[in-house]
Amino acid sequence: MDLLCFITCGSVDDGKSTLIGRLLHDCAALTDEQQAALGSEPDFAELLDGLSDEREQGITIDVAWRYFGTPRRRFIIGDTPGHEQYTRNMVTGASVADAAVLLVDARKGLLSQTRRHAAILALLGVRALVLAVNKMDLVGFAAERFEEIAGDFAAVATRLGLPEPVAIPVVALSGANVVDRSGDTSWYGGPTLIEALEAIPPADDLGADRPLRLPVQTVLRDREGKRLVAGTVAAGRIARGDPVVVLPGGIETKVAGLWIGEEEVASAEAGRALSLSLADEVDCGRGAVIAAADAAPASADRFEANLVWLGDEPLLAGRGYWLQLGTQSVTAFVQRPKYELGIETGERLAAKTLGPNAIGVAELATDRPLVFEPYEDSRTLGGFILVDKETNATVACGMIRFALRRTANLHWQELSVDREARARIKGQTPRVVWLTGLSGAGKSTIANLLEKKLHAAGRHSFLLDGDNVRHGLNRDLGFADADRVENIRRVGEVARLMADAGLIVITAFISPFRAEREMVRDMLPPGEFLEVFVDTTLEEAERRDPKGLYAKARSGELSNFTGIDSPYEPPLAPDLRIDTQALSAEQAAERIADLLRT
Ligand code: ADX
Repeated sequence: MDLLCFITCGSVDDGKSTLIGRLLHDCAALTDEQQAALGSEPDFAELLDGLSDEREQGITIDVAWRYFGTPRRRFIIGDTPGHEQYTRNMVTGASVADAAVLLVDARKGLLSQTRRHAAILALLGVRALVLAVNKMDLVGFAAERFEEIAGDFAAVATRLGLPEPVAIPVVALSGANVVDRSGDTSWYGGPTLIEALEAIPPADDLGADRPLRLPVQTVLRDREGKRLVAGTVAAGRIARGDPVVVLPGGIETKVAGLWIGEEEVASAEAGRALSLSLADEVDCGRGAVIAAADAAPASADRFEANLVWLGDEPLLAGRGYWLQLGTQSVTAFVQRPKYELGIETGERLAAKTLGPNAIGVAELATDRPLVFEPYEDSRTLGGFILVDKETNATVACGMIRFALRRTANLHWQELSVDREARARIKGQTPRVVWLTGLSGAGKSTIANLLEKKLHAAGRHSFLLDGDNVRHGLNRDLGFADADRVENIRRVGEVARLMADAGLIVITAFISPFRAEREMVRDMLPPGEFLEVFVDTTLEEAERRDPKGLYAKARSGELSNFTGIDSPYEPPLAPDLRIDTQALSAEQAAERIADLLRT
């Protein structure tokens, strides 16, 4: 007997819990033998494997999974709460489910939440869809009402490219057309809900003859010290002796041995968790993908993707998020969305960002190539999540549409005179001294004094100052969060180039976000980035108000002002903290110069 995993979704109060209760109740009447045949927890565990990464991150996923069976089939149902703030749970459920039962209340018809869930099911590529038109008793079992709703929904499904839905008139409360056929809907000749669920073709029909895809989970050593690669076959089958390629390296080798648990096997199908040994010692760790040698997936670092935004905070274009795709984990920078999908109409709406529950399309760039396939070809190699680096919260669920070949023809030019050579001739170690703090904290003053000291000591330096850079390179940027992110990204890149040139670079920018300061730190070799927190209380900065900007911000003349109506995230572990209430600017500059001498 095979297994079907489906979710129930739809708007609040459309009767999901009642329906699930009904299915569990009516299907419980199995003989002991049938019950016994249902058995096996492992399948269940495997199915939920995709969720375990999120579990490890301590994110609670509020999908209640229930398990039941009929003489024909075993089922796992995911109950996903219908409130808008729970879209996350619905997405999580839909990303592992084979099929969905979408409920509507016969009295209310399609609601905006119904359409939103339908759009998400379409993006996640649900294979089969049942529309349960519930509470038919409350509309007097009227065939016309049922036809009307089924017709409305069929149009939505066509527009979204969903599989053709099977519409069924039901009463979850009494069980009409759930498991038993109802006498009140003699006009209805289609299947009951359980018959429709039993008739959905098994998932294996899809992936069995596809080329092998095996994302590597871990690499272990067995007792004899032999290297074993562990993972779950995502697509195709694997057999001893098969020629395979290990990506992203692209080295070809053969499968030497296969084990499921302790038992050695000759081959294994999609869905099996196993360990294997390779004929050669190939570089292969978590995140690698083992694939059929003659049909390997591509790698790329620029994509266009569908995004379902799940975070409480909106997308910050340009911010680096963790991107997890299968067992691969990279940093991804999401660009301003190309458009947001209008849930009611399916229109493409212009959007600067994506807020909670929004669905849209955006380009993203990763810091390393990803082994991928478009989501429509592979859920495992095409579906990903975005995780906030600070809070570890899952902020989006994404589906790769295609790779952009923009950088494929760009090659990194190796230069004969390298950064060490340039620094050596100047007799110094390149550094980026990154001053951060509120406006009016004294960053520019300190930076200026510091550069004078360096210059007097014969050092080669350059000072990048916020106000000045915003007159030229960054004159197109304002002070919205996304603009500040881009400001710091550009300044980071420039500082990196200057450090490559062998210079000691001093920067004086508010740089209010930890994430972007950390991004710049990561761009540079270890130890070259020195974060200096120019620490002043807001009261003190406002009292000084050298440019009169705090006064303007307080009077409402200036918006998005740091410390007033725009955040400042102080460094948690700066390389140096300058208390400007205790030190003069001169003393502060001297402290930094001391730090540079170490
Ligand atoms: S950052 O946040 O993007 O790092 P940056 O350091 O480049 O800011 O620019 C800050 C300078 O711009 C301030 O010193 C101030 O003179 C000026 N400024 C103008 N508007 C604002 C604003 N809304 N918030 C902060 N600074 C502003």
